[in-house]
Order: sequence, then structure tokens, then C-alpha cells
Amino acid sequence: AIDISDLRTRTGYITMDPAYMNTGATVSSVTFLDGEQGILRYRGIPIEQLAEQSSFTETAYLLIYGRLPTRQELVAFRLQVSRHSMIHEGLKELIDRFPPGAHPMAILSSAVCAMSAYYPELAKMDQTPEEVELSIVRLIAKITTIAAYAYKQSIGHPLLYPDNSLGYCANFLRMMFGVPCEPYVVDDDLVKALKVLMILHADHEQNCSTSTVRLVGSSRANLFAAVSAGILALWGPLHGGANQEVLEMLEEIQRDGGDVAKFVLKAKDPKDPFRLMGFGHRVYKNYDPRATIIKRTADTVLTKLGKQDEPLLKIAKELEEAARSDSYFVDRKLYPNVDFYSGIIYHAMGIPTTMFTVMFAIGRLPGWIAQWKEMLEQKAKIGRPRQIYVGPTKTDYVPIEARG
Ligand code: ACO
Repeated sequence: AIDISDLRTRTGYITMDPAYMNTGATVSSVTFLDGEQGILRYRGIPIEQLAEQSSFTETAYLLIYGRLPTRQELVAFRLQVSRHSMIHEGLKELIDRFPPGAHPMAILSSAVCAMSAYYPELAKMDQTPEEVELSIVRLIAKITTIAAYAYKQSIGHPLLYPDNSLGYCANFLRMMFGVPCEPYVVDDDLVKALKVLMILHADHEQNCSTSTVRLVGSSRANLFAAVSAGILALWGPLHGGANQEVLEMLEEIQRDGGDVAKFVLKAKDPKDPFRLMGFGHRVYKNYDPRATIIKRTADTVLTKLGKQDEPLLKIAKELEEAARSDSYFVDRKLYPNVDFYSGIIYHAMGIPTTMFTVMFAIGRLPGWIAQWKEMLEQKAKIGRPRQIYVGPTKTDYVPIEARG
């Protein structure tokens, strides 16, 4: 036990809230989330409406600029994004230097950070509004090219340059799966499913990666550096990295014979570190509204691809069912989160498991940008949490020969 009786005199009053369970770090008008009722809205608009009716670039505009664009504004924004979709050849060479098998999240975060070296004029403090705009557009435009190339590089294939006649999601799928010198046939159903996933991932208020972006940005580090840090925070298996873990868990259950009850039991064992990946959420104490839509989308996509009997989807549904009728999960309000069914869709589309968190990062980018921009507009002070020191009080230096 720690004796904190004299800490007040040494440190003044400090509020302790490890993991920020109940500490607001900012006011924000970007995203509304009610975890008890399972409500999520971007700039006031329910995600259900956006997933159904909006496009990813339009949702990105909404998040970043605070309102839906007019037709003219949307056309101009899309034009800007497609105009900047090529990456510097030096950046391409940088990606080429990664060893075979490098995790695409390592490549993505490095390449996004390296953009500050390729665009030094955008990497300085006190940017003009035009420079802020250019950073935003360049990042949204290039992230899909970088991500697709990270994948192509990992399988030893050449980069497929962007085709700006295609929309954002279609262009990304083409860069992932297209073959040089061969026409790429866009599958509208897959493009629609991808845009739904991207929209549902686009923002989630002050989660771990977004808070990282804001904290790094609060030192006035440039957008590329702040987002690169956000990508790294997202990579963790308790955050966005869970989507990769979910699929690996489902595959493990499949290899083990498909006995979901065994894994539910394992997840409940306090001595076993195993958790049901894709279950639970810090804020949602009701069903994650994104998971509802993603589960539906998984059914649609797999049926369309003729993969409705995909064993992993069956295992996932059985696992959800088993957890729903288990008091451990019910009492703790642990439901499937955004990561639970998304991987099954990516898997069915042919996206490799190591790319799942990259997909999340592409989707989350508009939210990171919107929160970074809001932080700048708020002229936020540098973030600097305090601590309560519990180490030794003053001790004297002991020369090495006297240490025994
Ligand atoms: N499987 C089994 N038990 C769980 C799970 C799970 N997935 N999640 C939480 N629990 C249990 C904990 O063991 C704890 O039990 P206890 O009260 O008996 O000690 C209780 O539920 C509360 O869990 P915490 O870890 O304290 O909750 P916290 O809010 O800190 O964590 C988190 C939330 C990280 C999402 C957690 O539920 C988890 O690890 N889930 C699995 C990983 C995952 O899916 N992450 C993605 C989240 S969504 C996103 O970030 C995009």
C-alpha cells in the first residue's frame, strides 16, 4: 500500500484518474456518443443515416468542416483529394526499404510521419489556414496510396498508381487488388460495404488514438507527426489492433474444433489473460451501434460473395450468442464492439489480416484531423498530465565500488 498522507504538501492537490475513466480533456463539437443508449452522431447526424446515405469523402468533410458540404463544395473537395493522391517517389523508395513481412501498421505510421520530411513547408509551427488545408488534403489523399502500397510491397508486387477517375473507396480497392496493364472491374457492392465500414470508423470522440493525436498536436507538432502517433496508438490490441486479434481468435477457435463455450470459459477465468477480442468497450454499456450495422453488412457482403456459409462468421455469431447468455458478460455489459464483425468482411473481401488495423486507420483519419483542427482552433494549451510521485524520498548517490 502507498502512504499518500504527506503527498498533498509535496505536490499540491492533484486529481487521480488513471486511464481517464471520468476525466474530460476537452470540449468538442465533433462527435456525440451516449454509451448507455448506444447512440453515435457525427456533428449531430446519426451514424445510421450517414452509413446509409453519405459517402466517405462527404462524411470526412462533415467531420472536418463541421457541416455537410454543398454539391459544389463536395466536388471541389473530391477534386483536391484526387489531385493529391500520388506519393513522392522518395516515399515509395522508403516503403521499399522495409523488410519482407514488415507489419503494414509500422510502414503506414512511418510513411505518414515521413510526409513531414517531404513537405517541410507544412511541418512548421503556426501554419497559415491555407497550409493547414493543404496538410489535411494531402494526408487524406495519400493515406490510401501509402496503405495499398504497404500491402503490395509486402507481397512483392509493384505499386499501382491511383486512378483518379474512381471514387475514394473504389480507387483504394483497385490499388489493393488491381494488376498493372489489366482493367480493374469495380464491384459496387464491395465499394458500398467498404464505404459503410469507413464511415462507421470515422470518429469516436476522445478514444486512445484520438487523444494521442490531440496530445501530440497540443505541442504544435505538425499534422503528419500527430496522426502518425495516432496510428501507433491505434495499433494496440486493446484498441484498433483488436480487429486483427478477433480474426486470429476466430481462426484459433476454428482450428480447435469450433467449441465456443470453451473460449467463453477461458475468457472468464481471472487467472487466464485471454479476453474475447472484439468484446467490451470503455464507453458503450449497451450494444455498440457500429457493430449492429457491421454485423448486417457482413451478412450482405458474404451472401453477395457466395460466402454466406463462411465458418468464421458462424463461429462469431455463436460466440456472441454464448456471451449474451452468460452472466459474466451480461453483468459487465460486454457486447461486441466495432472490431468484432469488421474483420470478417475484410477477410471475405480478400484483405489480409495484417491490413485490418490499417483499414481502421484510413477510416479514422477524418476524425483525427477534425479533432486536431478543433484543438488548434481552441488554441489548446499543451497537454501535460500530472502524477503523484511514490518513489523514494531523497537518497544519496552511492559510488559503484561501495555498492557491494
Ligand atoms: N473478455 C473478457 N473479459 C473482459 C473483456 C473481454 N473482451 N473486456 C472486459 N472484460 C472484463 C475485465 O476482465 C473486467 O473484469 P473484472 O471487473 O472482473 O476485473 C471488466 O470486464 C472490465 O474490463 P476493463 O478492462 O476494466 O474495462 P476497460 O474499460 O478498461 O477496457 C476494453 C475496455 C479495453 C475495450 C476491454 O473491454 C477489452 O480489452 N476488450 C477486448 C479488446 C477489444 O476488443 N478492444 C477494442 C475496443 S474498441 C476500439 O478500441 C476500437
